[in-house]
Amino acid sequence: MDHTKRTIPAGTGEFPQELSTFIEEWRAKPGSLIMILHKIQETFGFISRESAETLAILSGIPLARIYGVITFYHFFKTTKPGKHKISVCLGTACYLKGGQDMIDEVRSILGLEEGGVSDDGLFSIDPVRCVGCCGLAPVLTVGTETDGKLTKEQLPEIIAKYRNK
Ligand code: FES
Repeated sequence: MDHTKRTIPAGTGEFPQELSTFIEEWRAKPGSLIMILHKIQETFGFISRESAETLAILSGIPLARIYGVITFYHFFKTTKPGKHKISVCLGTACYLKGGQDMIDEVRSILGLEEGGVSDDGLFSIDPVRCVGCCGLAPVLTVGTETDGKLTKEQLPEIIAKYRNK
């Protein structure tokens, strides 16, 4: 079969050219599905049903297999993240200094379910592994900014700062 002739039916959405080219290059290689899913998430911030369907069409990989991988790895997200993605480190140093308490407190302040997004669409939160500044534990990042030696009392102020951005 000539895979280069695949077309995307109306209603399945479109990928940027760079992403389509990436899929074209990777789809025949072993282990390609995970690489491609990472690229889709990097492009859109999550993997929508529409993106999964488009990928199935472009790659010839069955949709059920794509969803099998997406749901197996917690790294992959199927819902759009908040405008401000909060990451709290749960590496050893941060965990020992209360990283999980920080996550619980942020969720409580924002009324977030696990993996959810705040009602205003501004915030989502995820635990991450060591971000490389263990001396500042516990550490939280929002986008490219990092806050260290955190206390729960600082969290409302940090959230307020981003709410107004
Ligand atoms: S364990 Fe959190 S920065 Fe290293």
